[in-house]
Amino acid sequence: MILPIVAYGDPVLKKKANPISKDYQLLKDLIDDMRETMKRASGVGLAAPQIGLSFNLFITDGSAFDDLEAKNFKEVFINANIINREGDMVGYNEGCLSIPDIREEVKRPDKITIQYYDENFNFHEKEYTGIVARIIQHEYDHIQGILIVDYLSPLKKRILKKRLLDISKGKVDVDYKMRFPGQKVKSKYI
Ligand code: NI
Repeated sequence: MILPIVAYGDPVLKKKANPISKDYQLLKDLIDDMRETMKRASGVGLAAPQIGLSFNLFITDGSAFDDLEAKNFKEVFINANIINREGDMVGYNEGCLSIPDIREEVKRPDKITIQYYDENFNFHEKEYTGIVARIIQHEYDHIQGILIVDYLSPLKKRILKKRLLDISKGKVDVDYKMRFPGQKVKSKYI
């Protein structure tokens, strides 16, 4: 089932997400729905807060990239914890499904080490670099309640203020389903 993607301005996007229990019965359904939702929106990644759930869960799909490693990067990250960031700070124009039509340069370290559980609750500790490390850091930020616009200078933030306000009011033209602040939603996952 395709779920509406939460728009900028919803408090759930600013919250630090909670860990998921291994016993959470609906995990498989939730991951399936998130995959379908991400695909429909042509997303490179999707974090649970973006569908209104404050869970430490995100998924990735780098198939839109030419980069060989990114292309095959379809993963599920549960209860993720980045334990190390190193390497050069690299800038890249990032977008976010919760903030349509805004792309901003975000500088991030090129290399990370992350601990996480996969969808079968197997534990992993892995190192990632390049685009894949960037995708992970963007989605991991969602789990921490951080958005790409939080990296902007005060000046740039002022320039974008009106557009961000418009997004939070639903004045956006997107071809995927969104949910705007104040709109009530029923979810089987809460
Ligand atoms: Ni995002």
